[in-house]
Amino acid sequence: MLTGDPGTDGTAENVDMATPIPDPLALPWPRRTAHTTLRPLAPDDAVAMHSYRRLPEVCAYLSHGPLSLAEVEQRIAGRLSGIDPTPGRRVRGLAIEHQDRMVGDAMLRTQVDAGQAQLWIGYALHPDVWGHGLATEVAQELCRVGSELGLPVHADAFADNVASLRVLEKAGLARVGTSLDAGRPFVLFASVTDQQSALSAWP
Ligand SMILES: CC(C)(COP(=O)(O)OP(=O)(O)OC[C@H]1O[C@@H](n2cnc3c(N)ncnc32)[C@H](O)[C@@H]1OP(=O)(O)O)[C@@H](O)C(=O)NCCC(=O)NCCS
Repeated sequence: MLTGDPGTDGTAENVDMATPIPDPLALPWPRRTAHTTLRPLAPDDAVAMHSYRRLPEVCAYLSHGPLSLAEVEQRIAGRLSGIDPTPGRRVRGLAIEHQDRMVGDAMLRTQVDAGQAQLWIGYALHPDVWGHGLATEVAQELCRVGSELGLPVHADAFADNVASLRVLEKAGLARVGTSLDAGRPFVLFASVTDQQSALSAWP
């Protein structure tokens, strides 16, 4: 369940057509930050994505272990379909480009919880580019996507993922709760305007 990693099984019947779930890809793309370009994932991104999603250090704080190329291809196919394994959710993927190279990917998941549409965000970058502020730029831009969609933004990170906790704070999200994933503590974040509803949703 953790940030950006709900996984996908590619089955069309999981889409809840009765619930209007915004599609972030309806916005204009690509989007640019100071040092990155964000664009929808494409099938031929698999090799670049595999170069970091196969690494144990990248997966240490994700909900999946190191991925094979076939698993990455399946992941991209799921993002292209927009279908999330959990009914009532739509999940999309973005490529993060820096200096004309794909250096990471981001997740935009829209869902309706307790009658409230929300945008959940996530990201993973190649270790080559860690520590240069790219994730912060990306997270800030994903929050702007939420604003443009008129949706509160939510995210989560394992409590020991210090870099990601910092990124989410620098993106302007507030800590609104904690919980456990298979006994492992994680922290819930939400956009400031949504703190109150998030607090009531996650006691
Ligand atoms: C988490 C991740 C996206 C951060 O990317 P990044 O581009 O290096 O992040 P930024 O450079 O924008 O910011 C990182 C911040 O964390 C801080 N940080 C990093 N490691 C830290 C540590 N061990 N202790 C304290 N602070 C740390 C940095 O100093 C920086 O904060 P600052 O600008 O206030 O100094 C990247 O490490 C990654 O892809 N990890 C693997 C996947 C992952 O964990 N994704 C998030 C799942 S919730």
